[in-house]
Amino acid sequence: MPEKNALISQAKAVLAKNWTGEFTKPTANLYPHQWNWDAGFIAIGYAHYDMDRAEAELRALFRGQWRNGMLPHIIFREERSAQYFPGASFWRTHLAVEAPADLRTSGITQPPVQGFALWHIYQTATDKDRALNLVKELYPKILRMHQYLYAFRDPEQEGLACIRHPWESGTDNSPTWDGPMARTDLSRVQLPAYERADNKIGQAEHRPTQRDYDYYVYLLDIYRRYNYNEVSIHAHCPFRIQDPLFNSMLQRSNECMAELAPLIGESPMVWQDWAIHTREAMNHKLWDAERGTYNAFDLVAGEVIRIETSSGFMPLFAGIPSEAQAQKMIYRLSGPAFSGTTENPAYLCPTLNLQDPRLDFRKYWRGPIWINMNWLLWHGLRRYGYDTLARRVKEEAMSLIRQHGFFEYFHPLKKAEGEIALGAADFSWSAALYIDWELGGD
Ligand code: DGY
Repeated sequence: MPEKNALISQAKAVLAKNWTGEFTKPTANLYPHQWNWDAGFIAIGYAHYDMDRAEAELRALFRGQWRNGMLPHIIFREERSAQYFPGASFWRTHLAVEAPADLRTSGITQPPVQGFALWHIYQTATDKDRALNLVKELYPKILRMHQYLYAFRDPEQEGLACIRHPWESGTDNSPTWDGPMARTDLSRVQLPAYERADNKIGQAEHRPTQRDYDYYVYLLDIYRRYNYNEVSIHAHCPFRIQDPLFNSMLQRSNECMAELAPLIGESPMVWQDWAIHTREAMNHKLWDAERGTYNAFDLVAGEVIRIETSSGFMPLFAGIPSEAQAQKMIYRLSGPAFSGTTENPAYLCPTLNLQDPRLDFRKYWRGPIWINMNWLLWHGLRRYGYDTLARRVKEEAMSLIRQHGFFEYFHPLKKAEGEIALGAADFSWSAALYIDWELGGD
């Protein structure tokens, strides 16, 4: 197994390979553009050894921000349509009055990690004056992004932002979306013609199904038909869900921005108000006291989605649970549902409850381990003082990387045979967060 220093060099080489001169691709072929939450994690890694790149990454991302504050999930620089679907010409966001005139983007967003990414960069920076300049520059952009989320994604002012596409969750094909997606009979829908690229570049059995893609395209087509008008989308979107991961990222970013605001002479109040509201709403509406986790809520059906995924543990990262709630979550995490059994132990943290019949060890967000989720969980566990479990979450992720490389995701069972390293190789956020773990200190 490579030594620590060799692995850090390999991680830096992954980021260098995926760097385009302007931003970093998540991986060379499967994701050839800039992705929103990927960019946040990638910048956290760069901050340890190349502040120019950390800054460039976030600047390039915010160049795609819409006038209404929405930060798109993909910023396209070139069409590369043979390589990626749906490309810029399929999204047709030039139809949106709010979209930037000089850059093509997608028309949906992703988990709002930029507030805490900026905070981590500030903490890591040795040149604090320089880092403060970055905070000054990004502060109004992140503020507008949160204002967008609280205004347009939370029109009832509950304190919870809703997602309107499975891709907005970051956990694209999680079983959490199966029920809401099944509500639409796609055989009755006139879908635009399209051809996937992902299942030809990546291994088809690791990727979402054809039905999943039909549904993704179905939603996208609704948005472009309404020219991405927020009011029309709100009225017609059949998929509106309050997700614990998305809202935990929002909440942690609120907290981080509240800390950064006074450093540049701004008031933390708006962030603190949002933070109080979101924390209360998550505990009131999404907490599942019986199981000790947080659920998603389907706004269209008006019901809780009781499917246990690693997203349900993300509130730890944002300080949302009380000590007593956190204790219940830890119990759940340490039990067979997520840690496996003595005969069949699992690495933490599988994306889905190991006893769930929808589990698929090799399929993307339906079971495999993701490095960013372990990184978020590690922070969350440390925050509540569960240092031993936190160490395990970190060590298990790092040992998967040491054994197999900087893959996109991994099989969660310790005794698994066959393919363990899954999805794309040389995946940027796996490399960036590995660097943060190694160079960030404990
Ligand atoms: C993809 O293309 O698979 C992305 O995750 C969607 O953003």
